[in-house]
Amino acid sequence: MAKPKQAQALPEPLFQRMAVLGLGLIGGSLAKAVREQKLAACVVGADLRQDELQRGLELGVIDEAAESLAAAVSGADLVVIAVPVRAMASVLTEIRPHLEKNAVLTDVGSTKASFVTSVEAVFGCWPDRVIPGHPIAGSEKSGIAAARTDLFNNHKVILTPSETTNSGALSRLSALWSACGATVLTMSVEHHDEVLAATSHLPHLIAFSLVDTLAGEDDNLEIFRYAAGGFRDFTRIAASDPVMWHDIFLSNREAVLRVIDHFNADLSVLREAIEVGDGKRLLQVFSRAKAARDHFSKMLSGQAYVTAMSQKQVTFKLQPGGDVRGDIRVPGDKSISHRSIMLGALSEGVTEVEGFLEGEDSLATLQAFRDMGVTIEGPDKGFVRIHGVGLQGLQAPRGPLYLGNSGTAMRLFSGLLAGQNFDAELTGDESLSKRPMGRVADPLREMGAVIETADGGRPPIRIKGGQALKGIRYDMPIASAQVKSCLLLAGLYAGGETKVTEPAPTRDHTERMLQGFGYRVEREDATARVSGGGRLTGGHIDVPADISSAAFFLVAASITPGADLTLRHVGMNPTRVGVINILKQMGADITVDNEREVGGEPVADLHVRHARLKGISIPEDQVPLAIDEFPVLFIAAVCAEGETILTGAEELRVKESDRIQVMADGLAELGVKTTVTPDGIVIQGGQAMQTGTVNSHGDHRIAMAFSVAALRAKGEITVTDCANVATSFPNFVDLAKNVGIRIEVEGAGG
Ligand code: S3P
Repeated sequence: MAKPKQAQALPEPLFQRMAVLGLGLIGGSLAKAVREQKLAACVVGADLRQDELQRGLELGVIDEAAESLAAAVSGADLVVIAVPVRAMASVLTEIRPHLEKNAVLTDVGSTKASFVTSVEAVFGCWPDRVIPGHPIAGSEKSGIAAARTDLFNNHKVILTPSETTNSGALSRLSALWSACGATVLTMSVEHHDEVLAATSHLPHLIAFSLVDTLAGEDDNLEIFRYAAGGFRDFTRIAASDPVMWHDIFLSNREAVLRVIDHFNADLSVLREAIEVGDGKRLLQVFSRAKAARDHFSKMLSGQAYVTAMSQKQVTFKLQPGGDVRGDIRVPGDKSISHRSIMLGALSEGVTEVEGFLEGEDSLATLQAFRDMGVTIEGPDKGFVRIHGVGLQGLQAPRGPLYLGNSGTAMRLFSGLLAGQNFDAELTGDESLSKRPMGRVADPLREMGAVIETADGGRPPIRIKGGQALKGIRYDMPIASAQVKSCLLLAGLYAGGETKVTEPAPTRDHTERMLQGFGYRVEREDATARVSGGGRLTGGHIDVPADISSAAFFLVAASITPGADLTLRHVGMNPTRVGVINILKQMGADITVDNEREVGGEPVADLHVRHARLKGISIPEDQVPLAIDEFPVLFIAAVCAEGETILTGAEELRVKESDRIQVMADGLAELGVKTTVTPDGIVIQGGQAMQTGTVNSHGDHRIAMAFSVAALRAKGEITVTDCANVATSFPNFVDLAKNVGIRIEVEGAGG
């Protein structure tokens, strides 16, 4: 028999009766939000201040005003103590006899150890339904009149459960805070108090103290009259409730004292720098602080230098067809940008860099050197000034160096950190954390370095400082500029000679720049040699436009009928021009104009027009010279007549993604069949690319390659997971639009 249809039941409230003890800003706002969201069937308030209690009723913040704390908690299944921290113990004592057996008890105080101490004193233990809490929200305003239902929206609430906390109680309390719009985090009591001492308590102390100092000056009226934005912004929190804050400092004594001492020491350093006119020191601290402040939100999420874009889901939407016309300069070369910071920092004197790539990868390198005490000004429209500290001048970083998506940074850092006298840890994002690091760790160990990697030779990498390195002779099993550069950098710190032999030519920017900075590097056939113990002298670096970024437009123009495009100032280092050699062999119409040399690197302007491309067998000696350009070369192959065969390219499988498989999968989504081999791919040209959705797997070059593909596709292409385009080519979308690619971005700004 069919059951009678039932009316849709309203969701059950999470709690039947919530008692809020203390109707200040936080208690009042929570009561109001819970009532509004119907998270508790009844919200009862208690407060010593009868007028506040009455206002709570009038303003609809609470359903019921209790006459006493005891009356409020009787029958309550959730009790929230929202009184000043120092009043916690007496409130706990008063309510204890009246608490229901299964009631969940929490608080909203800014310090947690003191609350737990009071709980233990009153209950004789820490009961499993007592869950300390702290909403990181509030304002300098206080009292129930300031209560707002959205006070917790997009704010964090920290809960500090114990190991024995009742899990059901914890999940119901978390659900309540989440329903109020908060993000709930859990951590230990001790960790909470340390973190808050630094991020909240110290700034309040300084604000109170600064305003008090200035108010006490003789000319205080003048000071306050002319105190404009900076003073106002900085001291807003000095208008906070003095009683509450006096409680907080007395309750979180130990953690606050530690952070005050730390701050005092740093402040004395600045004082002394001003006294002795040490501008360099001031610049170092200020520019490091500015970088930290500019990248605040990312640093807060533990990702030192990832710009906002890469934490978001970014999707490219591409309409089929489009033109490729214009005269553009793509951003600076990534490999050279990394090295300019590294060698500039290790040099004596100042290095000025022009054309620096302000992409996430090279910014990660820049930030890591700041973390090791190097003063770096900029970047400002590609200009960076590095105050070199010399080969022995780096300082131990305060924590792990986060290198984002950058394999180059991690491998080159491994070499230069192996020679320092301090320990270091290198970490990276999800993609970097999967990439092989044994290829650098193994030969570095042969040189005497002490290095640990995670399972399978993956990051994080831990390097023990203070080791005496010795030069080795190393025959690289793979053609890798990163491995070669890593060992040459370690060689600067090693006794004797370090000789690295490569199985095929790879990019030689490290060797060129070392020589440019006055360090002797010898080259004999396939072997590069350095001896330790020399010095680097800072200089000027003009970073050419990145041929790896230009490659997208070389292919874009080659496959688009009517295309005519000029690319300016492109780096033409012979170890990087594989993409031009390969495209020319396929029949591309590329002319190289205005060839010149800047700062030890050849550059030229490239002029590209549409051409009928034909498939080829890509010569294996070109593979290392075009190693980053294959994703877009595969698109050229699809648009060519006949078959293109790539072999000897297994390295592509360990780049930011498995570029052979990810490209083949993406092409398959567009209806293009390919044959994948262990070390390459076979592509029959002339297949139509249909509409489809391609997952770039967070690989910047895959995302950009499929953006180019749209020029010849039959329908719309959607490319997902594109945020990492910012690692190498931050203005790709603008430039692509500029030349005529019909690209839109979804999700970047949201
Ligand atoms: C780079 C070397 C190449 C390249 C990477 C940058 C460098 O890697 O793929 O994008 O700057 O040294 P391998 O040398 O490991 O092939």
